[in-house]
Amino acid sequence: MPEEIDPPADNTGTDIPVVYSKTVIDHATKPRNMGPIEQPDGYATITGPCGDTMQIWFRVRDDLIIAATFMTDGCGPSIASGSIATELVKRKAAADAIRISHKDILNALDGLPEDSRHCALLAANTIKAAIRDYIAFKSEPWKRAYVK
Ligand code: FES
Repeated sequence: MPEEIDPPADNTGTDIPVVYSKTVIDHATKPRNMGPIEQPDGYATITGPCGDTMQIWFRVRDDLIIAATFMTDGCGPSIASGSIATELVKRKAAADAIRISHKDILNALDGLPEDSRHCALLAANTIKAAIRDYIAFKSEPWKRAYVK
């Protein structure tokens, strides 16, 4: 079951400056692990309530995630969230990686402004969905050929 938080607030008209951590700026401007993996062992795509989509791909060997990549058409915080989420799951067992929450992503990013926290949730939910996809097909990967 995906985690849920409130949708982004409409903050148009406010004069409060938005401040991002150095980690967020670093991952948003120099994202790690971007782009698809050919014939992945796990894959998911989720469109959040904001209308932005995140995709996650995994390569798994002996139940260990050896590569994780992402793509998003979303905002800078979603790029930072996808980037750091794929760093967090690398070299983790699938059973451990599925426990990564949006709070873990927020902590790794040194926080996000209130209105951007849903971007971390989108990354966490997509990670979980990609791991569920891996688990569903790991014993019978040939069944992917029948999924459209
Ligand atoms: Fe949609 Fe950030 S505003 S993911």
